[in-house]
Amino acid sequence: MSATSPTRPVLPPDILARKGGVPLVVLTAYTTPVARLVDAQCDIALVGDSVGMVLHGMPSTLGVTMEMMILHGRAVVRGLSRAMAVIDMPFGSYEESPQQAYRNAARLMTETGAPSVKLEGGAHMAETIAFLTARGVPVMAHVGLTPQAVNTLGGYKVVGRDAEADRVMADAVAVAAAGAFAVVLEKVPVGLAGRITAQVAIPTIGIGAGVDCDGQVLVVDDILGLFTEFRPKFVKRYGALGQAAAEAIAAYAEDVRARRFPGPEHGFADVLKGPTT
Ligand code: KIV
Repeated sequence: MSATSPTRPVLPPDILARKGGVPLVVLTAYTTPVARLVDAQCDIALVGDSVGMVLHGMPSTLGVTMEMMILHGRAVVRGLSRAMAVIDMPFGSYEESPQQAYRNAARLMTETGAPSVKLEGGAHMAETIAFLTARGVPVMAHVGLTPQAVNTLGGYKVVGRDAEADRVMADAVAVAAAGAFAVVLEKVPVGLAGRITAQVAIPTIGIGAGVDCDGQVLVVDDILGLFTEFRPKFVKRYGALGQAAAEAIAAYAEDVRARRFPGPEHGFADVLKGPTT
């Protein structure tokens, strides 16, 4: 956890207060053990709907359900003592109306214990963000590339080049005005992300949006080298755990086939001789 984080659990106003300060550190987490590791170093543990692709082998995030987010959200909240959990609202759980969004956001918060949610979308989601924040649901917004809209966007492309830049700026301004406590900028050109960061009063959290954002987020399995199906340009790998795991599993398989495992130290004596047998 960064030196500027409070010693009590982090809450949305603490994140808002970090605008323009030491960069916010955000990673995804989907399980209790990873949440514990993230808690030790990060300000926010994002229970992203990327869980569908990363842990469940789905082709996109579109099939992720409320039940999946609640299950993984609960697991993550159990592993946190200081970092703040943010739970992604899955596709189809909030777009219909502010009332639908409120019902499902309240479920995510009450059934996981997380103090905030994230939803995708810019100006068209501003009314919903205002509705939620006025009723006690802190919202992290997400503009630029919004993966739940992959079919309308036509792929996971950079969003905000050329004429599109004004729309992305307007989206960020709209979600900030609606009361979001932070906004994720995904796959937005570096210059535009810098201009948005200078323009809005809430922290911008970049993923593929350059160094000028108020914070950075990545998928934890990407930085650990655990998710290797594809590697976006914006990912930096800090470990090769997938490779290490593959080697460990191969060594185990060889040992079993060669009857090198289990050894005598892994077995139990037929007659009890002492407390450790
Ligand atoms: O689902 C997710 O993990 C996300 C982040 C990568 C921003 O939305």
